Amino acid sequence: VDVPQANIGVVGLAVMGSNLARNLASREGNTVAVFNRTAAKTDELVAEHPEAGFIATKSYQEFADRLSTPRTAIIMVQAGRGTDAVIDELVKVFEPGDIIVDGGNANFRDTIAREKRISETGIHFVGTGISGGEEGALNGPSIMPGGSDESWQTLGPIFRSIAAVAEGEPCVTHIGHDGAGHFVKMVHNGIEYADMQLIAEGYDLIRRGTGKSPAEIADVFDEWNRGELESYLIEITAQVLRQVDAATGKPLVDVILDQAGAKGTGAWTVQNALDLGVPVSGIAEAVFARSLSSKPGQRAVAQKVLPGPSDRWTIESPEDFIEDVRQALYASKVIAYSQGFDEIIAGAEEFGWDIDKGDIAKIWRGGCIIRARFLNRITDAYAADPDLTSLVTAPFFVDVVTAAQGPWRRVVSMAAHAGVPAPAFASSLAYYDGLRADRLPAALIQGQRDFFGAHTYKRVDKDGIFHTLWSGDR
Ligand code: NAP
Ligand code: ATR
Repeated sequence: VDVPQANIGVVGLAVMGSNLARNLASREGNTVAVFNRTAAKTDELVAEHPEAGFIATKSYQEFADRLSTPRTAIIMVQAGRGTDAVIDELVKVFEPGDIIVDGGNANFRDTIAREKRISETGIHFVGTGISGGEEGALNGPSIMPGGSDESWQTLGPIFRSIAAVAEGEPCVTHIGHDGAGHFVKMVHNGIEYADMQLIAEGYDLIRRGTGKSPAEIADVFDEWNRGELESYLIEITAQVLRQVDAATGKPLVDVILDQAGAKGTGAWTVQNALDLGVPVSGIAEAVFARSLSSKPGQRAVAQKVLPGPSDRWTIESPEDFIEDVRQALYASKVIAYSQGFDEIIAGAEEFGWDIDKGDIAKIWRGGCIIRARFLNRITDAYAADPDLTSLVTAPFFVDVVTAAQGPWRRVVSMAAHAGVPAPAFASSLAYYDGLRADRLPAALIQGQRDFFGAHTYKRVDKDGIFHTLWSGDR
């Protein structure tokens, strides 16, 4: 008997997988086979969405049998052990030429290892970053696939059909081989951490500096969202600030415990940046700020014994101060992206990926959490100069940071003066000043290293390696 076949399958039917499966099913020409370890979830999804015409399967063998060949399956399960468990089963029932896509938030190093192992069987393995949370999965995510050129031939049209669309273009591109997609997704999340932290610092400064209420600050963010800072994160920030807690009648932001969680992709971004020697200091501060917030024991003790500034913080013109914060935020955000792209460039070099930086900015314009108006300017910058040494030195961004000079420095010094923590603002400015300095005190560090460890140094006036016989007690 002829049983209907699916052209694509989804394994893992929690929120992401279910939504992605529904997205796929809603596109012309697709029939979607679905499988979940716990079969009850499969039944539930199929019952709730008859319009999707899913083919429900109850074993890996049945899942494989119901897919037309070459088979294409997207895994959306818990990253790590869950992903490995599913891969092991699929490899048993799939054949050479079939494609396994891992759409979870895998560590790119795992993806590289998995691709190596799986490609020996003749099955393609495609680590793919999928961004945009559950809403994106359903209505159009930003998709960052790695994997072979051959698998991209098959996956390209499928991904293009379900991706978010920004200015008429689908938010997907073949990032590069093996782990390239998951690497870029990781850096995307690192930038997301920085962007969120910068917005949070801006809010905190405005609140403490001007005394405005969360709802009033929501209006400020709405206003900002009509200008160059227009972005998804600014937009939702206004909505979060406007939310009132039904139980207490207070602004919800005042009822939420001030301890930020993290799933770890921000930390990965920083760990890999350390390995690659790329200073992603703004992103690192954002990750550390979440860690600091989540140490209630330390904070409770410190709150009692560590003093702040004694003089009161007064702001003469709230309007001017808010505009200063806006510009400081914009400049610091440019630094976060500049650092993130530095890491992508370094990763591409280290792992042998041919990555088009401009294309990455393009596919982040829709679907993902960091979608923002100014991403077009990043694409333009790399189009004008593919070998740009750092994003912040592109003419457009030079203009941004030039205009923000005064405001940025005022905000950082005011925060320090007032005792308001603004680690991402401050560190971005310090990075900026480090990058543009004509002489750095690194010379002194080289002297110290040569003194205590005979590490040698180079000179500004002649070639060669030098060591000084330092005098002094040693
Ligand atoms: P999740 O909570 O990360 O994972 C739950 C799913 O994994 C369930 O279908 C579960 O099956 C399955 N699973 C776990 N261990 C398994 C195993 N050993 N064998 C087979 N299946 C196993 O689900 P999610 O939030 O939808 O996320 C899916 C993936 O997308 C994750 O990698 C996540 O990091 C990534 N992601 C999430 C978001 C988001 O906003 N949530 C955004 C982008 C990417 P059972 O039903 O049988 O338990
Ligand atoms: P996106 O690319 O859309 O940002 P994401 O990387 O999965 O997708 O992260 C979206 C949000 O979902 C983040 O707040 C993330 O938490 P972290 O800030 O701690 O990274 C959260 N998130 C990711 N995976 C999750 C999971 N399995 N369960 C709950 N929240 C998750």
